[in-house]
Amino acid sequence: MKTTLEGLPERVTIYEVGARDGLQNEKTIVPVEVKAEFIGRLADAGLTTIEATSFVHPTWVPQLADAARLLEVLERRPGVRYPVLVPNEKGLDRALDAGVDEIAVFASATETFARRNLNRTVEESLAMFAPVVERARGAGAGVRGYVSMCFGDPWEGDVPLDQVVQVAQRLLDMGCTELSLGDTIGVGTPGQVTALIDALEDHLPRLAVHFHDTYGQALANTLAALRAGVTTVDASAGGLGGCPYADSATGNLATEDLVWMLNGLGIEHGVDLTSLAETSRWMAGRLGRPSPSRVVQALSPKEQQ
Ligand code: HMG
Ligand code: MG
Repeated sequence: MKTTLEGLPERVTIYEVGARDGLQNEKTIVPVEVKAEFIGRLADAGLTTIEATSFVHPTWVPQLADAARLLEVLERRPGVRYPVLVPNEKGLDRALDAGVDEIAVFASATETFARRNLNRTVEESLAMFAPVVERARGAGAGVRGYVSMCFGDPWEGDVPLDQVVQVAQRLLDMGCTELSLGDTIGVGTPGQVTALIDALEDHLPRLAVHFHDTYGQALANTLAALRAGVTTVDASAGGLGGCPYADSATGNLATEDLVWMLNGLGIEHGVDLTSLAETSRWMAGRLGRPSPSRVVQALSPKEQQ
């Protein structure tokens, strides 16, 4: 049964990250054909923004070293966006050669994670992104800017709100068309989420949220973000995910868990839950372990639970 709540949007855009954030942490290399089929099935289920892969250094994230090949074999559907992660100009060259028309750069709110994830200070990494954003925009590409470690960092602990807002503002000033606020290690709680979104209120139409579910807060945080006016939510099919450079990052908010909540609240999103859960079960079979998504588990036939 649908029961709405006041102050929520009528429609939410789901930004699907399973093929990138979900797979980047997998140790066993998933064949490129399986990745392409995964992305095709996600589009079949109604997802229209599917982050496909990363053009990062192949030895840093071996799972996504096949980015160019994936874009060759991927059947790109009209009406579906396939953004990719790009850290620097070398990555941008590779992405543009592969016909990409939407990218994401990824900054950190903390020095330690910037160093571990990008081999740079925060300032150096912003300097690395500036020409990427400028050139990508010049080529007509949309550019998302991620801010990681928005609430807590495994090495630095609590992250001050001002520190996050400063990095966010720099990405927006640089020309990012969207800003995704990342709780990379899933420690944030709804009060912190609301405070951060309120602090960036002037940019609301460009804000997205990106929650990992380490402490089981991802859905509660999403609801807080929706109430604060955000309408783009990142999620990963089946709850796949993690970050190879932050051990404490576990799976992302599962797209199925998000869809279940949106369905109950009567919020439009365009995704078919049955087809999506079927895809996540199929992918779990390829990875050799059950999906961590509660909704995927609940919807599974008894013999598969
Ligand atoms: P570096 O070693 O400092 O690179 O790595 P460099 O600039 O010194 O270059 C060294 C060599 O790498 C050069 O080759 C470059 O050409 C080559 P050489 O001259 O020695 O032969 N190179 C590349 N090759 C291919 N593609 C490239 C590339 N760049 C340089 N793009 C670098 C710096 C940024 C490249 C590295 O640190 C890196 O790739 N990091 C990516 C790490 C990553 O992908 N992490 C996971 C994604 S972030 C995340 O998951 C968080 C998020 O989900 C949000 C959240 O949850 O908060 C987004
Ligand atoms: Mg992430």
